[in-house]
Amino acid sequence: MSEVERDLDRLLAEVQSAGDVPAHVAVIMDGNGRWAGERGLPRFMGHREGMKAVRRTVTACLDLGVRHLTLYAFSKENWSRPAEEVAALMRLLSEYVERDRSELAEKGVRVSVLGDRSRLSAPARRSVESIETSTAGGGELALNLAISYGSRDEILSAARTLARRCVAGDLSPDEIAPEDFEAALFTAGSPDPDLLIRTSGEMRVSNFLLWQIAYAEIHVTPVLWPDFGERDFYEAVLDYQRRERRFGRVTPVSDDGV
Ligand code: FPP
Repeated sequence: MSEVERDLDRLLAEVQSAGDVPAHVAVIMDGNGRWAGERGLPRFMGHREGMKAVRRTVTACLDLGVRHLTLYAFSKENWSRPAEEVAALMRLLSEYVERDRSELAEKGVRVSVLGDRSRLSAPARRSVESIETSTAGGGELALNLAISYGSRDEILSAARTLARRCVAGDLSPDEIAPEDFEAALFTAGSPDPDLLIRTSGEMRVSNFLLWQIAYAEIHVTPVLWPDFGERDFYEAVLDYQRRERRFGRVTPVSDDGV
């Protein structure tokens, strides 16, 4: 084992003994373009390198016992990027699926895609469907990939679902509960994220999980996404463990939620 690996193991042990690990981590993966620009490379190379950071983050979650990971891979707004960048991102998605599908299934990672998949190219849509099918049995980590995703759209779509139920007489408007709303979101079945990580130093939420991050702790790191590794992930979790989570109360909420 190299000194770097020993160092990483020590950090992992520190996180494991420091307190509860977040059940759900959400990540805004930002800075691929800048990473490429700093090296005089096309933007696409930043995304390609970013795919390796996706692998490292999945490994860190598995090693740490994080049960849900949601990655913002492609926003609804990203459709207005130059056509060749969009095409390259779609190809990368298919490449990721082809390369990682069996390993993810072996490791118990269940992949789901959140977003408007009707806008995806036919091959990208097939890739998404195939990875969801082949990893459906995974029970270790739920990996949500937000692709063609916009949180306001998601909230509007949930509102429409509930309105339809009201019109059908299945639900009364006065009785709509937060649980009904949550069940109509793309993230139905996942707990709210405890920790939101954003890379590249930007202090924005960018239309990501607006309902779900109501009480998330936010960790912003200057590291550009392609450079993000297990060490950065563990440091984000350590930062989370140092926070006092009060959910609007005066005193911190204890580990067992009371
Ligand atoms: C934001 O960086 C990143 C994206 C729009 C794409 C994220 C995609 C990946 C990490 C690779 C593919 C992922 C999977 C799951 C297959 P940016 O381009 O906005 O960077 P900039 O702000 O520096 O320009």
